[in-house]
Amino acid sequence: MKTYKTLLFEQNGATGVVKVNRPDALNALNAEVLTELASIFDEIARDNSVGAVILTGEGRSFVAGADIAAMREMSALEGRAFMLKGQAVMQQIETLPKPVIAAVNGFALGGGCELAMACDIRLASEKAKFGQPEVGLGIIPGFGGTQRLPRLVGKGMAKYLIFSAEMIGADEAKAIGLVEKVYAPETLMEEAMKLAEMILSKAPIAVALSKAAINNGVNVDLPTGVNFEAEASASPFGSEDRLEGMSAFLEKRPAAFRNK
Ligand code: COA
Repeated sequence: MKTYKTLLFEQNGATGVVKVNRPDALNALNAEVLTELASIFDEIARDNSVGAVILTGEGRSFVAGADIAAMREMSALEGRAFMLKGQAVMQQIETLPKPVIAAVNGFALGGGCELAMACDIRLASEKAKFGQPEVGLGIIPGFGGTQRLPRLVGKGMAKYLIFSAEMIGADEAKAIGLVEKVYAPETLMEEAMKLAEMILSKAPIAVALSKAAINNGVNVDLPTGVNFEAEASASPFGSEDRLEGMSAFLEKRPAAFRNK
Protein backbone atom coordinates (compact mmCIF):
# COMPACT_ATOMS: atom_id res chain seq x y z
CA MET A 1 0.00 0.00 0.00
CA LYS A 2 1.05 3.60 -0.58
CA THR A 3 1.77 5.81 2.41
CA TYR A 4 -1.18 7.99 3.34
CA LYS A 5 -1.32 11.22 5.34
CA THR A 6 -4.71 10.69 6.94
CA LEU A 7 -4.93 6.89 6.99
CA LEU A 8 -2.99 4.08 8.60
CA PHE A 9 -2.90 0.61 7.09
CA GLU A 10 -1.70 -2.65 8.48
CA GLN A 11 -2.17 -6.17 7.25
CA ASN A 12 -2.72 -9.14 9.48
CA GLY A 13 -2.74 -12.30 7.35
CA ALA A 14 -5.33 -11.61 4.66
CA THR A 15 -7.11 -8.94 6.73
CA GLY A 16 -6.33 -5.32 5.95
CA VAL A 17 -6.97 -2.81 8.73
CA VAL A 18 -7.67 0.74 7.54
CA LYS A 19 -7.63 3.36 10.28
CA VAL A 20 -8.77 6.93 9.73
CA ASN A 21 -6.01 8.96 11.37
CA ARG A 22 -6.95 12.58 12.07
CA PRO A 23 -7.45 12.24 15.82
CA ASP A 24 -7.07 15.97 16.49
CA ALA A 25 -10.28 16.52 14.51
CA LEU A 26 -11.85 13.27 15.80
CA ASN A 27 -11.14 11.82 12.32
CA ALA A 28 -13.54 14.20 10.55
CA LEU A 29 -13.75 13.58 6.81
CA ASN A 30 -12.34 16.41 4.72
CA ALA A 31 -11.64 16.20 0.96
CA GLU A 32 -8.17 14.80 1.62
CA VAL A 33 -9.45 11.89 3.76
CA LEU A 34 -12.11 11.11 1.13
CA THR A 35 -9.50 11.12 -1.66
CA GLU A 36 -7.22 8.88 0.37
CA LEU A 37 -10.06 6.48 1.26
CA ALA A 38 -10.91 6.21 -2.44
CA SER A 39 -7.29 5.51 -3.24
CA ILE A 40 -6.70 2.89 -0.54
CA PHE A 41 -9.94 1.02 -1.36
CA ASP A 42 -8.86 1.05 -4.99
CA GLU A 43 -5.53 -0.50 -3.96
CA ILE A 44 -7.34 -3.05 -1.76
CA ALA A 45 -9.65 -4.00 -4.64
CA ARG A 46 -6.62 -4.85 -6.79
CA ASP A 47 -4.50 -6.53 -4.07
CA ASN A 48 -5.14 -10.27 -4.00
CA SER A 49 -3.34 -10.62 -0.66
CA VAL A 50 -6.14 -8.66 1.06
CA GLY A 51 -9.34 -10.71 1.36
CA ALA A 52 -11.20 -8.76 4.06
CA VAL A 53 -11.07 -5.25 5.49
CA ILE A 54 -11.63 -3.77 8.93
CA LEU A 55 -12.29 -0.04 8.98
CA THR A 56 -11.78 1.83 12.25
CA GLY A 57 -10.62 5.15 13.69
CA GLU A 58 -7.52 6.26 15.57
CA GLY A 59 -8.05 7.58 19.10
CA ARG A 60 -11.43 8.11 20.77
CA SER A 61 -13.47 8.53 17.60
CA PHE A 62 -14.45 6.36 14.64
CA VAL A 63 -15.29 9.37 12.46
CA ALA A 64 -17.07 12.42 13.95
CA GLY A 65 -18.58 13.44 10.63
CA ALA A 66 -17.72 15.42 7.58
CA ASP A 67 -15.33 18.28 8.37
CA ILE A 68 -17.51 21.15 9.57
CA ALA A 69 -14.73 23.77 9.29
CA ALA A 70 -14.17 22.80 5.64
CA MET A 71 -17.91 22.69 4.86
CA ARG A 72 -18.51 26.15 6.36
CA GLU A 73 -16.45 27.69 3.54
CA MET A 74 -18.20 25.84 0.68
CA SER A 75 -20.51 27.39 -1.90
CA ALA A 76 -23.60 25.43 -2.95
CA LEU A 77 -21.71 24.03 -5.95
CA GLU A 78 -18.71 23.09 -3.85
CA GLY A 79 -20.99 21.53 -1.26
CA ARG A 80 -22.64 19.44 -3.96
CA ALA A 81 -19.27 18.29 -5.32
CA PHE A 82 -18.13 17.39 -1.78
CA MET A 83 -21.28 15.35 -1.14
CA LEU A 84 -20.90 13.56 -4.50
CA LYS A 85 -17.30 12.75 -3.60
CA GLY A 86 -18.42 11.35 -0.23
CA GLN A 87 -21.23 9.37 -1.85
CA ALA A 88 -18.79 7.88 -4.36
CA VAL A 89 -16.46 6.67 -1.61
CA MET A 90 -19.37 5.08 0.30
CA GLN A 91 -20.51 3.39 -2.90
CA GLN A 92 -16.98 2.16 -3.58
CA ILE A 93 -16.81 0.52 -0.14
CA GLU A 94 -20.31 -0.92 -0.45
CA THR A 95 -19.56 -2.51 -3.82
CA LEU A 96 -16.02 -3.75 -3.03
CA PRO A 97 -16.19 -7.49 -3.77
CA LYS A 98 -14.58 -8.23 -0.39
CA PRO A 99 -16.18 -8.02 3.06
CA VAL A 100 -15.69 -4.74 4.94
CA ILE A 101 -16.27 -4.69 8.70
CA ALA A 102 -16.66 -1.38 10.54
CA ALA A 103 -15.10 -1.58 14.00
CA VAL A 104 -16.78 1.46 15.52
CA ASN A 105 -14.49 2.45 18.36
CA GLY A 106 -16.07 5.82 19.30
CA PHE A 107 -18.07 8.62 17.67
CA ALA A 108 -19.76 7.63 14.40
CA LEU A 109 -21.62 10.83 13.64
CA GLY A 110 -22.86 12.29 10.38
CA GLY A 111 -20.45 11.16 7.67
CA GLY A 112 -18.98 8.73 10.23
CA CYS A 113 -22.32 7.00 10.69
CA GLU A 114 -22.72 7.03 6.89
CA LEU A 115 -19.26 5.50 6.48
CA ALA A 116 -20.12 2.75 8.97
CA MET A 117 -23.39 2.11 7.11
CA ALA A 118 -21.53 1.67 3.82
CA CYS A 119 -19.59 -1.19 5.41
CA ASP A 120 -21.07 -4.70 5.32
CA ILE A 121 -21.14 -5.37 9.06
CA ARG A 122 -20.89 -3.00 12.01
CA LEU A 123 -19.28 -4.07 15.28
CA ALA A 124 -19.27 -1.44 18.01
CA SER A 125 -17.41 -0.71 21.20
CA GLU A 126 -19.64 -0.13 24.24
CA LYS A 127 -18.29 3.44 24.04
CA ALA A 128 -19.44 4.04 20.46
CA LYS A 129 -21.95 6.81 19.77
CA PHE A 130 -24.06 7.05 16.64
CA GLY A 131 -26.06 9.89 15.17
CA GLN A 132 -26.88 12.07 12.18
CA PRO A 133 -26.50 15.61 13.55
CA GLU A 134 -26.65 17.40 10.16
CA VAL A 135 -29.97 19.21 10.54
CA GLY A 136 -28.49 20.96 13.59
CA LEU A 137 -25.88 22.41 11.23
CA GLY A 138 -28.39 23.46 8.61
CA ILE A 139 -27.65 20.64 6.16
CA ILE A 140 -28.89 17.10 5.55
CA PRO A 141 -26.98 13.81 5.60
CA GLY A 142 -25.31 13.85 2.19
CA PHE A 143 -23.03 10.81 2.05
CA GLY A 144 -25.98 8.44 1.57
CA GLY A 145 -27.43 8.68 5.08
CA THR A 146 -30.98 9.53 4.05
CA GLN A 147 -30.96 6.36 1.94
CA ARG A 148 -28.94 3.79 3.90
CA LEU A 149 -30.30 4.63 7.37
CA PRO A 150 -33.96 3.83 6.54
CA ARG A 151 -32.83 0.65 4.76
CA LEU A 152 -31.12 -0.47 7.98
CA VAL A 153 -33.46 0.77 10.71
CA GLY A 154 -36.75 1.52 8.92
CA LYS A 155 -38.28 4.79 7.76
CA GLY A 156 -39.73 5.92 11.10
CA MET A 157 -36.55 5.39 13.12
CA ALA A 158 -34.43 7.00 10.38
CA LYS A 159 -36.67 10.08 10.48
CA TYR A 160 -36.53 10.11 14.28
CA LEU A 161 -32.71 10.03 14.27
CA ILE A 162 -32.23 12.50 11.40
CA PHE A 163 -34.90 15.05 12.45
CA SER A 164 -33.92 15.01 16.14
CA ALA A 165 -30.13 14.74 15.56
CA GLU A 166 -30.12 12.62 18.73
CA MET A 167 -26.93 10.75 19.57
CA ILE A 168 -27.48 7.16 20.66
CA GLY A 169 -25.23 4.64 22.39
CA ALA A 170 -24.06 1.27 21.11
CA ASP A 171 -26.74 -0.80 22.85
CA GLU A 172 -29.54 1.30 21.39
CA ALA A 173 -27.86 1.20 17.98
CA LYS A 174 -27.85 -2.59 18.25
CA ALA A 175 -31.49 -2.70 19.35
CA ILE A 176 -32.59 -0.79 16.23
CA GLY A 177 -30.40 -2.79 13.83
CA LEU A 178 -27.77 -0.15 13.17
CA VAL A 179 -25.01 -2.38 14.57
CA GLU A 180 -24.73 -6.15 14.65
CA LYS A 181 -22.65 -6.74 17.81
CA VAL A 182 -21.37 -4.71 20.77
CA TYR A 183 -18.11 -5.49 22.57
CA ALA A 184 -16.02 -4.12 25.44
CA PRO A 185 -13.67 -1.46 24.01
CA GLU A 186 -10.55 -3.53 24.70
CA THR A 187 -11.87 -6.56 22.79
CA LEU A 188 -13.39 -4.77 19.78
CA MET A 189 -10.44 -5.15 17.40
CA GLU A 190 -9.80 -8.74 18.47
CA GLU A 191 -13.46 -9.60 17.79
CA ALA A 192 -13.36 -7.79 14.44
CA MET A 193 -10.26 -9.76 13.52
CA LYS A 194 -11.92 -13.04 14.57
CA LEU A 195 -14.94 -12.25 12.42
CA ALA A 196 -12.73 -11.35 9.44
CA GLU A 197 -10.87 -14.64 9.84
CA MET A 198 -14.12 -16.57 10.10
CA ILE A 199 -15.32 -15.00 6.84
CA LEU A 200 -11.93 -15.56 5.20
CA SER A 201 -12.21 -19.29 5.97
CA LYS A 202 -15.23 -19.43 3.61
CA ALA A 203 -15.19 -19.41 -0.18
CA PRO A 204 -14.32 -15.82 -1.23
CA ILE A 205 -16.26 -16.02 -4.50
CA ALA A 206 -19.38 -17.11 -2.61
CA VAL A 207 -18.97 -14.33 -0.02
CA ALA A 208 -18.51 -11.70 -2.75
CA LEU A 209 -21.55 -12.93 -4.67
CA SER A 210 -23.67 -13.02 -1.50
CA LYS A 211 -22.65 -9.41 -0.84
CA ALA A 212 -23.66 -8.37 -4.36
CA ALA A 213 -26.96 -10.28 -4.16
CA ILE A 214 -27.93 -8.70 -0.84
CA ASN A 215 -26.88 -5.21 -1.90
CA ASN A 216 -28.69 -5.39 -5.22
CA GLY A 217 -31.72 -7.08 -3.73
CA VAL A 218 -32.54 -4.44 -1.13
CA ASN A 219 -32.91 -1.84 -3.88
CA VAL A 220 -35.39 -3.73 -6.07
CA ASP A 221 -38.67 -5.63 -5.76
CA LEU A 222 -38.60 -9.28 -4.60
CA PRO A 223 -39.06 -10.96 -8.02
CA THR A 224 -36.20 -8.86 -9.48
CA GLY A 225 -34.09 -9.63 -6.40
CA VAL A 226 -34.59 -13.38 -6.59
CA ASN A 227 -33.84 -13.26 -10.33
CA PHE A 228 -30.54 -11.61 -9.50
CA GLU A 229 -29.94 -14.28 -6.87
CA ALA A 230 -30.63 -17.05 -9.40
CA GLU A 231 -28.04 -15.60 -11.79
CA ALA A 232 -25.52 -14.99 -9.00
CA SER A 233 -26.00 -18.49 -7.59
CA ALA A 234 -25.21 -20.11 -10.93
CA SER A 235 -21.64 -18.88 -11.28
CA PRO A 236 -20.08 -20.51 -8.15
CA PHE A 237 -21.04 -23.89 -9.62
CA GLY A 238 -18.29 -23.28 -12.16
CA SER A 239 -15.69 -22.56 -9.48
CA GLU A 240 -13.02 -24.90 -8.15
CA ASP A 241 -13.89 -23.74 -4.64
CA ARG A 242 -17.43 -25.09 -4.97
CA LEU A 243 -16.05 -28.55 -5.72
CA GLU A 244 -13.57 -28.20 -2.86
CA GLY A 245 -16.25 -27.03 -0.37
CA MET A 246 -18.64 -29.84 -1.19
CA SER A 247 -15.92 -32.50 -1.40
CA ALA A 248 -14.48 -31.38 1.94
CA PHE A 249 -17.92 -31.70 3.56
CA LEU A 250 -18.44 -35.20 2.14
CA GLU A 251 -14.89 -36.26 3.08
CA LYS A 252 -15.38 -34.82 6.60
CA ARG A 253 -12.36 -32.48 6.40
CA PRO A 254 -11.93 -28.68 6.46
CA ALA A 255 -12.13 -27.02 3.06
CA ALA A 256 -9.10 -25.24 1.63
CA PHE A 257 -10.46 -22.48 -0.60
CA ARG A 258 -8.24 -20.86 -3.21
CA ASN A 259 -10.48 -18.10 -4.58
CA LYS A 260 -10.72 -19.95 -7.88
N1 COA B 1 -15.53 18.56 11.77
C1 COA B 1 -14.45 19.28 12.09
N2 COA B 1 -13.86 19.23 13.30
C2 COA B 1 -14.40 18.42 14.22
C3 COA B 1 -15.53 17.64 13.96
C4 COA B 1 -16.10 17.72 12.66
N3 COA B 1 -17.16 16.99 12.31
N4 COA B 1 -15.85 16.93 15.07
C5 COA B 1 -14.94 17.28 15.99
N5 COA B 1 -14.06 18.16 15.49
C6 COA B 1 -12.93 18.80 16.17
C7 COA B 1 -13.40 19.86 17.15
O1 COA B 1 -13.63 21.09 16.46
C8 COA B 1 -12.22 19.94 18.09
O2 COA B 1 -11.19 20.69 17.46
P1 COA B 1 -10.30 21.71 18.34
O3 COA B 1 -9.61 20.85 19.35
O4 COA B 1 -9.38 22.31 17.33
O5 COA B 1 -11.26 22.65 18.97
C9 COA B 1 -11.75 18.48 18.16
O6 COA B 1 -12.28 17.84 16.99
C10 COA B 1 -12.26 17.75 19.38
O7 COA B 1 -13.69 17.89 19.43
P2 COA B 1 -14.48 18.45 20.70
O8 COA B 1 -15.77 18.98 20.23
O9 COA B 1 -13.62 19.38 21.50
O10 COA B 1 -14.65 17.09 21.53
P3 COA B 1 -15.83 16.74 22.54
O11 COA B 1 -15.43 15.47 23.20
O12 COA B 1 -16.16 17.91 23.40
O13 COA B 1 -17.12 16.47 21.62
C11 COA B 1 -18.27 15.54 19.72
C12 COA B 1 -17.12 15.39 20.75
C13 COA B 1 -18.14 14.43 18.69
C14 COA B 1 -19.61 15.40 20.47
C15 COA B 1 -18.19 16.92 19.06
O14 COA B 1 -16.87 17.09 18.56
C16 COA B 1 -19.13 17.08 17.91
O15 COA B 1 -20.32 17.28 18.12
N6 COA B 1 -18.63 17.03 16.66
C17 COA B 1 -19.38 17.31 15.48
C18 COA B 1 -20.29 16.14 15.14
C19 COA B 1 -21.13 16.48 13.93
O16 COA B 1 -21.98 17.33 13.95
N7 COA B 1 -20.86 15.75 12.85
C20 COA B 1 -21.63 15.84 11.65
C21 COA B 1 -20.99 16.71 10.67
S1 COA B 1 -21.98 16.74 9.19
